[in-house]
Amino acid sequence: MDPIQNPYAPGAGTLPPALVGRDRELERFDFLIGRLGRGGSEKSLVLHGLRGVGKTVLLTEFASRAERAGWSALRHEWRRESDFRTAIARLVGAAIAAHERPGRVRRALRRARGALGSFTTAISTEGQVSVGFQWEPERGLADSGELEQDLGELLAELGALAAESDSGVVLLFDELQLLGLEELEGLVAALHRLAQERLPVAMVAAGLPTLPGLLLEAKTYAERLFGFPALGALAPEASERALREPAAELGVSFSDEAIAAIMAESGGYPYFLQEWGKAAWNAARGGAIDREAVAVAEAVVAEELDEEFFGLRMERASGAELALCVALAGVGEGPQPIREVAAAMGREPKALSPARAGLIRKGLVYPAGRGEVAFTVPHFGRYLRRRVPGGAEHR
Ligand SMILES: Nc1ncnc2c1ncn2[C@@H]1O[C@H](COP(=O)(O)OP(=O)(O)OP(=O)(O)O)[C@@H](O)[C@H]1O
Ligand SMILES: [Mg+2]
Repeated sequence: MDPIQNPYAPGAGTLPPALVGRDRELERFDFLIGRLGRGGSEKSLVLHGLRGVGKTVLLTEFASRAERAGWSALRHEWRRESDFRTAIARLVGAAIAAHERPGRVRRALRRARGALGSFTTAISTEGQVSVGFQWEPERGLADSGELEQDLGELLAELGALAAESDSGVVLLFDELQLLGLEELEGLVAALHRLAQERLPVAMVAAGLPTLPGLLLEAKTYAERLFGFPALGALAPEASERALREPAAELGVSFSDEAIAAIMAESGGYPYFLQEWGKAAWNAARGGAIDREAVAVAEAVVAEELDEEFFGLRMERASGAELALCVALAGVGEGPQPIREVAAAMGREPKALSPARAGLIRKGLVYPAGRGEVAFTVPHFGRYLRRRVPGGAEHR
């Protein structure tokens, strides 16, 4: 069928034609800002899950809901090399600007500007310039040099400014696992303080499955400060809707066999569902997607995934790292003890440390628990077993 009309949207952070199976998370978000907006308290949220489960897309949906509710959505995707203070200063600066009105400068606005002025003086001169806001520092406000305290004071002033106009601020932080421990400590402590003061400032963070552990490591009370919804594959009913609804809107239907085949192959992972939907649509003839179209789509999806989703990641691995991945794939699905991976390779666990560390840094595997490792990408083990036959014997 006409690829121009194809509704499916495989990609990174690309909004799906039907956002399904996340009602609980959406409700929790509405509840969070609803409660904080009324001076109540509610836990901020930490979404975690493997690559391609729909974390970024949910943050986008949260941003539009927040804005519809009159809140400021401060959105940022962290990178390993991000300068924390600079990024925060930019976000807060933009949020303050949104509260500026012609006429007399109110006290809350003056204080928020002053806090930002103090906060940015701790950044190098270049940092200050790149932030693009240069307010006079306010003595005694966000100028201690301690990240925890300064960030807490800065966000508290922003929260007070927002509260003045019955709105609030939500920090939407993607890939938060990439922040260093010190920054995570500062962030958690600042949010703790805001929660105590009942200010309308919330955070929704998203990241890999390691994120909850990192936040607890930063501050043990993170456990009580946040809710930690895990995102994974969609339930069968939701997977079916993710496929059927976009097509139905354009008068196209799926046969039951076609749905069953795609669900089995994709495992209900959102990104895979979009790839399958797209390829099956393109392969179909007439206004229906049947089993035959899915069979034709199979080669297209395999090529797409192997080259883009899996292949590009694999290219970044060294020989020793690849060997570890292949052994991990041979041991089993999901988190596996590094001990067993080492045994499968005929090596000592210690000898794998450099390769393990390299893979974690490259984002291919994550430390899943005590002595365990797992792939960050769903179906990655399956891919390797297909690509490197004889898997576990590979050294
Ligand atoms: N609830 C959903 N229903 C249907 N499709 C979805 C859903 N959530 C995400 N998708 C689709 O899945 C793909 C991946 O989404 P997204 O980029 O948000 O995942 P992610 O978890 O942020 O991945 P990564 O960890 O790689 O950043 C996109 O093509 C998106 O359209
Ligand atoms: Mg993402």
